[in-house]
Amino acid sequence: MRKFKGDELLIATHNKGKAREISDLLLPYISKFYSASELNLEEPEETGATFAENAVLKAKLAAKDSGKVSLADDSGLCVNALNGDPGVYSARWGGKNKDFNIAMKKVNDALGGVKDRSAYFTCVLAIAWPDGHVEIFEGRVNGTIVWPMRGNMGFGYDPIFQAKGYDITFAQMNPSEKHKISHRAKAFDLLVKNCLKG
Ligand code: IMP
Repeated sequence: MRKFKGDELLIATHNKGKAREISDLLLPYISKFYSASELNLEEPEETGATFAENAVLKAKLAAKDSGKVSLADDSGLCVNALNGDPGVYSARWGGKNKDFNIAMKKVNDALGGVKDRSAYFTCVLAIAWPDGHVEIFEGRVNGTIVWPMRGNMGFGYDPIFQAKGYDITFAQMNPSEKHKISHRAKAFDLLVKNCLKG
């Protein structure tokens, strides 16, 4: 496992909110952050068949184009009875307007009367060096799809996802509580423990 020894990191996203969230999480370990949008880097199409492929393609392209160590993430909801859908298409199920009320209804309609409503959120992080080396970390949180939607916190599919061991959805959960158990929290913990510390 290669350790990150520098003090500058490029966050390979054009989403300003995501760049801020990631830099906040890594603030104790990195002194200077750049984002792909502020360096006017090309935004690649997410053509991968898996979360890891998408995270790697985004991190590698950013590292190659900028000459800086680059971090990318890819995440989504996988429903077991739907063979992992919406999966890498999680954002796209919301359509052009990214309407997650439509996406959540699609998930529930696709499940119909199926008994197995188990699902998980996953987050894959890829950190790429300009020489092409990449390390990958994945965090998952298991749960079930509930209907009707409940809660108005969070984003995306949060109102229909209930994590294992809880009787409230992610959208009914205090954000700080969600951040303790989420797929994203787990992936960042692994990145920090394995790559950024020591
Ligand atoms: P991306 O990782 O930016 O490509 O977006 C992945 C998509 O997965 C988001 O648009 C959401 O629809 C969904 N997603 C990822 N993480 C979460 C989460 O924590 N809650 C709800 N939806 C999520």
